[in-house]
Amino acid sequence: MTTTPPRTSIQLPPRTAVLSDRGSYWITTFGCQMNRADSERMAGILESMGYSQATGELEADLVLYNTCTIRNNAEQKVYSYLGRQAQRKRHNPNLTLVVAGCVAQQEGESLLRRVPELDLVMGPQHANRLETLLQQVDSGQQVVATETHYILEDITIARRDSPVCGWVNAIYGCNERCTYCVVPSVRGLEQSRRPEAIRLEIEDLAARGFKEITLLGQNIDAYGRDLPGITSEGRRQHTLTDLLHYVHDVEGIKRIRFATSHPRYFTERLIDTCADLPKLCEHFHIPFQSGDNDVLRAMARGYTVERYLRIIDRIRERMPDASISADAIVAFPGETDAQYKHTLELIEEVGFDQVNTAAYSPRPHTPAANWANQLPEAVKVARLQEINAVVEHNARARNTRYTGRIEEVLAEGINPKNPVQLTGRTRTNRLTFFNSKSSDGHHYNLGDLVNVRIDAVRSFSLSGTTVS
Ligand code: SAH
Ligand code: SF4
Ligand code: F3S
Repeated sequence: MTTTPPRTSIQLPPRTAVLSDRGSYWITTFGCQMNRADSERMAGILESMGYSQATGELEADLVLYNTCTIRNNAEQKVYSYLGRQAQRKRHNPNLTLVVAGCVAQQEGESLLRRVPELDLVMGPQHANRLETLLQQVDSGQQVVATETHYILEDITIARRDSPVCGWVNAIYGCNERCTYCVVPSVRGLEQSRRPEAIRLEIEDLAARGFKEITLLGQNIDAYGRDLPGITSEGRRQHTLTDLLHYVHDVEGIKRIRFATSHPRYFTERLIDTCADLPKLCEHFHIPFQSGDNDVLRAMARGYTVERYLRIIDRIRERMPDASISADAIVAFPGETDAQYKHTLELIEEVGFDQVNTAAYSPRPHTPAANWANQLPEAVKVARLQEINAVVEHNARARNTRYTGRIEEVLAEGINPKNPVQLTGRTRTNRLTFFNSKSSDGHHYNLGDLVNVRIDAVRSFSLSGTTVS
């Protein structure tokens, strides 16, 4: 039996005219949404230079790893990938090897010593400069670009992975100093984009058929604090709340999201704005990291559990069905059993829709990495296993509320495991599967907002039947 993939009404964005045939490229992206957005822009640059997407990593003429160093295991991944490519390069000197992103920034020159086959090592602030850097490589140099760089508005058209949902950078970098975190040292100081530039990008996405945008920042709530301007009431002119109002009416965009939120800066005004503006989706990703006030202090997070709970209460007061996700770290240096239990209690109390968990991993140039009270590996493993079971149990319990409900789902992609199905997300960010063809013969396309009656509920996804 053959299955016909669903028709799609939306085409991928037109590619910039190919100037010359430079061969093929392959990008592998590790890490967070910021890296994914950077990779899309770097792919756009490569295509405008005349590269085309390779069919596989081992066939490509240019291989770029956009790396993450948030934990040691994330960092180590790239070295095993690089080993394979370095070996390939010994037989194929024309292969161009690039390491971009956060490991590149952290290691800089020393990456060249470790992997001498590399052509280019470039930090995240240099993503938009890929063409210039490759020209230097072409002239025979090995290039390291890790100096602080002011991120200029780029004229690059990103090669977006999704034809429906687009990432839009709002603020780069992070000025916080959480004692465990490597991000400020690899992503640099905060740089907010001008609201006009952000709106232009969103208008362009809308004109190309995109329906959803996600405004991105490591600390999105800090948006605008580096931009000049005070309102007549003496308030900062540029805040995330103002930005949301400013971009809300872009025609064609149906949904707006933002990530990641910091509990220290998450304001009531922001919550009210999300409740009042219809395109703002009722999903909030607000990492709490620990459910214990002493651990939070040692992490230098700048809020208490009580403040965190007040934010959640306020969100649920204004948007009762909102979904809340978060990140948490277990086995932070010195975390006692009792303190760890407070994190489990917080998870039970809030009833999160999802929590990304990790065991603490010491990172270079971070204060906590040098503390003497590191916990043994066995404690990390045991706590992580236990917390994951609690998270999954909670997520499933939260998901049962969807059973039988009709949810608005944005069709975002084709289910690769079952091409007669489309995948999408509810406004609350739940991954949902449904048939592209309804029982009355109607075909749904990517980009459609579809009403789906939820029939099956799993821990992290839903499936259902379309209803007209
Ligand atoms: N800016 C966001 C998150 C950035 S990193 C915030 O402030 O919450 C994504 C997640 O990785 C963090 O939320 C944290 O839970 C985790 N993380 C960061 N550094 C870590 C480390 N050294 N060990 C374990 N997990 C870490
Ligand atoms: Fe890291 Fe803290 Fe900045 Fe988040 S807010 S990126 S955890 S330093
Ligand atoms: Fe990783 Fe860098 Fe993002 S360290 S989590 S890719 S900011």
